[in-house]
Amino acid sequence: MSARPEPPSPALLAIETSCDETAAAVVRRDGTVVGSVVASQAAAHAPHGGVVPELAARMHLERLAAVVDEALAATPQGWAGLDGVAVTRGPGLVGCLLVGTAYAQAAAAARRLPIVGVSHMLGHVWAARIARPDLDPPFVALVVSGGHTDLVHVRSAAEADLLGATRDDAVGEAFDKVARLLGLPYPGGPSIDQAAEGGDPDRFRLPRPLLPDFGFSFSGLKTAVRVLLEREKVAGPFDLETGPLRSDIAAGFQAAAVDTLLTQLEAAIEHTGASRAVVVGGVASNRLLRREAQRRCAGLAEVVIPAPRYCTDNAAMIGVAGWLAVAHRGFDHGPLIVDPGLASYRP
Ligand code: KG4
Ligand code: ZN
Repeated sequence: MSARPEPPSPALLAIETSCDETAAAVVRRDGTVVGSVVASQAAAHAPHGGVVPELAARMHLERLAAVVDEALAATPQGWAGLDGVAVTRGPGLVGCLLVGTAYAQAAAAARRLPIVGVSHMLGHVWAARIARPDLDPPFVALVVSGGHTDLVHVRSAAEADLLGATRDDAVGEAFDKVARLLGLPYPGGPSIDQAAEGGDPDRFRLPRPLLPDFGFSFSGLKTAVRVLLEREKVAGPFDLETGPLRSDIAAGFQAAAVDTLLTQLEAAIEHTGASRAVVVGGVASNRLLRREAQRRCAGLAEVVIPAPRYCTDNAAMIGVAGWLAVAHRGFDHGPLIVDPGLASYRP
């Protein structure tokens, strides 16, 4: 008699709509990502030079059902194989969060599935487990995105201390604003990453603002690029499209931003005595940051940086964090409360 096959680990449908990616994924309790679909709205927002909140919410409404169907198509049983729903309830754009949570709650009610509301920030941190399923706290997380630049001491699955944060612009926001100054397309992070290739990072030495208490400040760095461009204009006519000026400025800016992030990460590692670090969030897909983080933190037991598609916004990370929240406090009861300012690294 042959042994019965093991039943698959339970599965959550995860939904993420906090900003301009419409995303759904199916994630098993053992951490396996079965299907992960991300529909980016970048092309629709690019002509406006940034995310237009109303447009983003409307596009989530138009696309979410199809994105969910596509994620479920990767699973053998579709809806019937699900054990719950996880959805981002903040932080993010309120209209966008409302579309995701309304859809998730309606779907969960119709299918009689339990639901769990998840912090987008917790999702970014635990995306590290997609790369390293056995990753356990304690570790230090450098969370770098379009809205956040945080250093977090993750002490256990349920306890995390915010060690430091940005006082003004987030680092991703600085990439986006500097890209605009340089006439590069939105989103600015990938554009600068590309433009910096072949540029001379030492031609322009840009400031590396280091604040006490693991703090960051990136608005001065952005202003320094603006002043630099104005000075170059006074010195004589130039064309950003041709010649090395644009890539040299992009490389100088990127070097300054990455150096600042890693200097503070090193300080946080020393302060906490942590032997592991994770670098997560959209900016963690930056090639220089990935390379330099591994080089400068080579003395640690491990630096975990998820694959780029799990650094930028996605729903798989919400599924992983969703299972963490379910293990810690169970599913939610009653209506989910959307919180655009949610600043939580706890389940
Ligand atoms: O995590 P994310 O997708 O969305 C937020 O939660 O904000 O991060 C988006 C940010 C944007 O500012 C984008 O320009 C930046 O991540 N980004 C990058 C790169 N790819 C995305 N920044 C630098 N280099 C990249 N390759
Ligand atoms: Zn994000």
